[in-house]
Amino acid sequence: MSRTTSQTPESDWLPFLANWVRSPIKMGAIAPSSRAYCSMMVSHATTDLDGPILELGPGLGVVTRALLTHGVAPERITSIEYEGDFARKLQQRFPKVNVIHGDGLDLDKTLGPVDSAPKYAAILFAIPIVNMPHARRQDLFARYFERLLPGGNLTQLSYMVTPPVRSLPGVFKTSSSKRVWSNIPPARVWIYHADGDERCEDMAA
Ligand SMILES: C[S@@+](CC[C@H](N)C(=O)[O-])C[C@H]1O[C@@H](n2cnc3c(N)ncnc32)[C@H](O)[C@@H]1O
Repeated sequence: MSRTTSQTPESDWLPFLANWVRSPIKMGAIAPSSRAYCSMMVSHATTDLDGPILELGPGLGVVTRALLTHGVAPERITSIEYEGDFARKLQQRFPKVNVIHGDGLDLDKTLGPVDSAPKYAAILFAIPIVNMPHARRQDLFARYFERLLPGGNLTQLSYMVTPPVRSLPGVFKTSSSKRVWSNIPPARVWIYHADGDERCEDMAA
């Protein structure tokens, strides 16, 4: 996503770029997100709630690392990555994180039905969905909300300048962080709270 990151090992850039060349729509970015952008995402995620944390589209782990830096115990984190080489590398890099090589857009398949799977304190989302019709994005996020604990939120890394997923009345409300100017391009973190959760207004840009 960003080219400015002091935290990303140099060796991560090539595999990231190579995957982007092979599959630009699935990767959605030519390089890992910047440290500041990941840190902004983590600071808005409801990691203070008790419960496990779900990360979707971790790539080579820049957000995973930001979660750990923020003080989240690795045993709380489940990271679902579609790309096999990335998932393997991520598991080596973070042996205590539960890395799943699977589809983060189909959690029924990857984690099992909602009723028999854990509920999460926060979901951190970085899978590209720009090519997905908007109604499908709303439907997808509504289904993620079924897997959140009360008070939990979903945060999204996306370079879109308008909300990637607009509020869905009765289900969730969309807000955003301040823009991270050091990111290339400058970008916001998009934040989704359950409709009626008062914290949503506090976080409006
Ligand atoms: C834009 S990159 C973000 C990587 C990292 N989180 C960052 O911010 O630099 C998107 C990641 O989502 C992964 N991905 C794409 N489709 C996916 C899916 N359906 N399920 C899980 N991961 C997926 C890609 O392989 C890639 O690692």
